[in-house]
Amino acid sequence: MSVAKKEYKRVTVKSLIEMKKNGEKISMLTAYDYSMAKIVDAANVDVILVGDSASNVMAGHETTLPITLDQMIYHASSVIRAVNRALVVVDIPFGSYQSDPKEALRSAIRIMKESGGHAVKVEGGIEIKESIKRILNAGIPVMGHLGLTPQSIYKFGTYTVRAKEEEEAKKLKEDALMLEKAGCFAIVLEKIPAELAKEVAESVNIPVIGIGAGNGVDGQVLVVHDLVGLTQEFNPRFLRRYMNLFEEMGKAISNYVADVKSRDFPSNEEQY
Ligand code: KIV
Repeated sequence: MSVAKKEYKRVTVKSLIEMKKNGEKISMLTAYDYSMAKIVDAANVDVILVGDSASNVMAGHETTLPITLDQMIYHASSVIRAVNRALVVVDIPFGSYQSDPKEALRSAIRIMKESGGHAVKVEGGIEIKESIKRILNAGIPVMGHLGLTPQSIYKFGTYTVRAKEEEEAKKLKEDALMLEKAGCFAIVLEKIPAELAKEVAESVNIPVIGIGAGNGVDGQVLVVHDLVGLTQEFNPRFLRRYMNLFEEMGKAISNYVADVKSRDFPSNEEQY
C-alpha cells in the first residue's frame, strides 16, 4: 500500500503517533557520533537511536552491559550536534535505572540535560513500571523495549528468538499494554515471531518499531553499522546489508598506503 507522506521539518513524539495513524511506516537507525548522525539525519531517517549497542559497535565489547551513563551522554551529545530533523532517542544504559525509580529519573534527567536528547529508551516490562512512570512524570518521553532485551543477555543465555512459547508471548503482550497505559510514546520489539509482533502492533495505539520482528509492525530499526556493512561477523536473518563499506573503505585505505609508499601522495598539487 502506498501512503501519501506528510513532510516533517522536525520529527517529534507526536509526529510518530500521527505516522502510525496515517499508516506511514517509521524509519529508525542508530548513530553514535557526529559524522554518522549527519549522514543519517540528511537521509531523512525519522528516529535516531543512540543505542547502548555503542558498547559493541564503538567500543568492541561483547555485550551492551559495560557502557556507562557518562559514555552514553558523550555519544548522545555528539549526535545531537549533527541533527536537524530526526527525533533523537537515547538508551539508558544497564545499571542506571534498574535499582529504583529515583535512580532511573536521575539518569534520565542527566541524559536530557547534558546531551540534549529528546527522549530515552529502557528495556523491560512490568518489572520497571514504577521507574518508567517516574521518568514520564518529569515530562521525559519514554520508549519501551521488549522481546530480546540485550541488557538481560546473561538471564536469557543466548541471542535466539524470544517469546516463541505461549507464556512468554502472553507476558510480552501484557507488558506492551502496560507500556502504552503508563504513557510510553513507542515500543521497540526485538527478535520475536512476526505474527506476535503484528498482534502487539494492532493492540496498541502507539507505534511499535521492530528489529527482527517482521513487517506487520509500524516501523523498522537497524544498527547503521550493520546496514552499511561496517560490521562483518554479525549476520542474523533479519539484517539487510545495503552496501559493504568495510570492503570499500579497506580498498580506499590500501590505495592510500600504496600511494604513500610509492611517493605518489602527496603530488605537487597537494602541497604548499
Ligand atoms: O542499542 C540498540 O542499538 C538497540 C536497537 C537494537 C533497538 O536497542
